[in-house]
Amino acid sequence: MTFRALIKRSVALTCAYYLHDDWRARRRLAAGRLESASGARHAGLDIAASLRYVERVYGDYLAYGGVTHFSGSVAEIGPGDSFAVALRILGAGAGHVHAIDRWVSRRDGEAQRRIYGALSERHGLGHLFEGVPAEETIKNLTYHAGQPAEAFFHDSGLRFDAILSRAVMEHLYDPLAALDGMARSLKPGGIMIHRIDLRDHGMFSGHHPLTLLTFSDGLHRRMTRGAGRPNRVLIDGYREWLQHSGLSGGITISRLAGVGEEQDPAPWQALDDSAKSRALECVRTIRPRLSGRFKAMADEDLAVAGLVLVARRNGG
Ligand SMILES: C[S@@+](CC[C@H](N)C(=O)[O-])C[C@H]1O[C@@H](n2cnc3c(N)ncnc32)[C@H](O)[C@@H]1O
Repeated sequence: MTFRALIKRSVALTCAYYLHDDWRARRRLAAGRLESASGARHAGLDIAASLRYVERVYGDYLAYGGVTHFSGSVAEIGPGDSFAVALRILGAGAGHVHAIDRWVSRRDGEAQRRIYGALSERHGLGHLFEGVPAEETIKNLTYHAGQPAEAFFHDSGLRFDAILSRAVMEHLYDPLAALDGMARSLKPGGIMIHRIDLRDHGMFSGHHPLTLLTFSDGLHRRMTRGAGRPNRVLIDGYREWLQHSGLSGGITISRLAGVGEEQDPAPWQALDDSAKSRALECVRTIRPRLSGRFKAMADEDLAVAGLVLVARRNGG
């Protein structure tokens, strides 16, 4: 057994590892070192798989928002190692995309050039590049690297017609404060769409899927905040935020605790009964070990492991 596997077998040792790792991540950030392995989605994908991923993410945004395209000024939070989704958004008529990221994900420049080239050919996007398709030549794209969403939407003064993210909100150290900033940054008629994965991202793989909810807030914060590991804002937090946001919108469920397969985003009542039973059983088996505020939550809320939040500012 490897040393890593040995540590992973023990929840206490795994916590000790994350405490140390988060301390190191905070030191790197303080020194201005932004490189990160997080968000390197395309590493290890061949071009066909990369293109499928990009088209899926873009298509999901349109479907969730019930729109045919995005126009005006668009913010994509946490693009990771590729601006290919931003390119699709620009290609369909948006005027400008602002890509906002707390880190700079490691990327394979050559693989990305192939993706941009293939998308350019497939969708006739040559006019969006200043020269050969590459990250540096995409027109009307601004990369705000090293900017946490929490600060960016409060400080930038920019206004947006759409604010989009996928697999990002769960990494924010204060997602509800970031949402407040986003709500203020939305133009009348503007929309925000966030697909949020509430699982522990493998932190305690091999243990109960909700192990992350058994620790005190202080311990959780010290294991996650600097490295961008999952926060513990769950569906109840997003629901309450939406109710008080002044925006209109809704939340649908895309994953259930302890259930492998994703769900087509839908309200709780419309989800598959057997998947819901499995998720509720998963919650019941850990309930006695949950920490403070999670104990007070309804089983149905704890059973939600992924969601899509869509909110619009009326007018426009
Ligand atoms: C799991 S990756 C998702 C990448 C991409 N959206 C995708 O679907 O493949 C999470 C991204 O969020 C970024 N991120 C994490 N915390 C952030 C924050 N506080 N503000 C802005 N971006 C953040 C990471 O650097 C990374 O690019």
